[in-house]
Amino acid sequence: MRTPLVMGNWKLNGTKDSVTALVNGLIEPAKAATNVQTAICPPVVFLGQVEALVGDAPIAYGAQDASVNTSGAFTGENSPVMLKEFGCTYNLVGHSERRQYHNETDAVVAAKFKAIQENQLVPVLCIGETLEENEAGKTEAVVETQLKAVIDLCGVEALENAVIAYEPVWAIGTGKSATSEQAQAIHAHIRSWLAAQSATVAEKVQILYGGSVKAATAKELFSQPDIDGALVGGASLMAEEFGAIIAAA
Ligand code: G3H
Repeated sequence: MRTPLVMGNWKLNGTKDSVTALVNGLIEPAKAATNVQTAICPPVVFLGQVEALVGDAPIAYGAQDASVNTSGAFTGENSPVMLKEFGCTYNLVGHSERRQYHNETDAVVAAKFKAIQENQLVPVLCIGETLEENEAGKTEAVVETQLKAVIDLCGVEALENAVIAYEPVWAIGTGKSATSEQAQAIHAHIRSWLAAQSATVAEKVQILYGGSVKAATAKELFSQPDIDGALVGGASLMAEEFGAIIAAA
């Protein structure tokens, strides 16, 4: 049985004051949801503040990106070693916004996945198709290619200590979520595709859905057998709304 994971991706949002209010507002919902893992991914500048605010509350956290390098002359980068020192558990990798705006290829994503895992952080591998790919019937092929890049570099077993987040690009920030049936169908496909390579990995890996998840739609999504939680963007910036999504898991 997989424990549900509800993770907030704050993207490029927050102030010192809003971070304090948001984390404080999540402590009670996280404590109340005893069978759910709660996590947040703030911008890295707020990690020290988040570490202090979270204390011993059951809220894990992580960064939205990481360098493939651990140290050196790489201006503007944050190394997985540094992120680990701030108490991070997770690290997003391959988010569609990184792929789109920072030209991260499948090879770059795979290298980052490897660096994150080698530094004892849990990679949250984001995959998903664009609207054009979806309409061309390429969804399954796209997610398989994205997964295969990581498997080719790290081995399928690497996914045993990772999380997969399926996020159709057309559903991100658009208010147009995949239906629970659409999401379940592709999650089931991902799991059976993985099972052909490792039954253990397929059974253990949490597959999150992301894309315009709201409190109103969360329960239905989470009732699907292959949806193990959510990666939430916009709705994770509101403590009450995100708390309700955690409660629905
Ligand atoms: O990482 C989160 C996803 O990009 C979803 O964002 O919930 O604002 O659509 P959204």
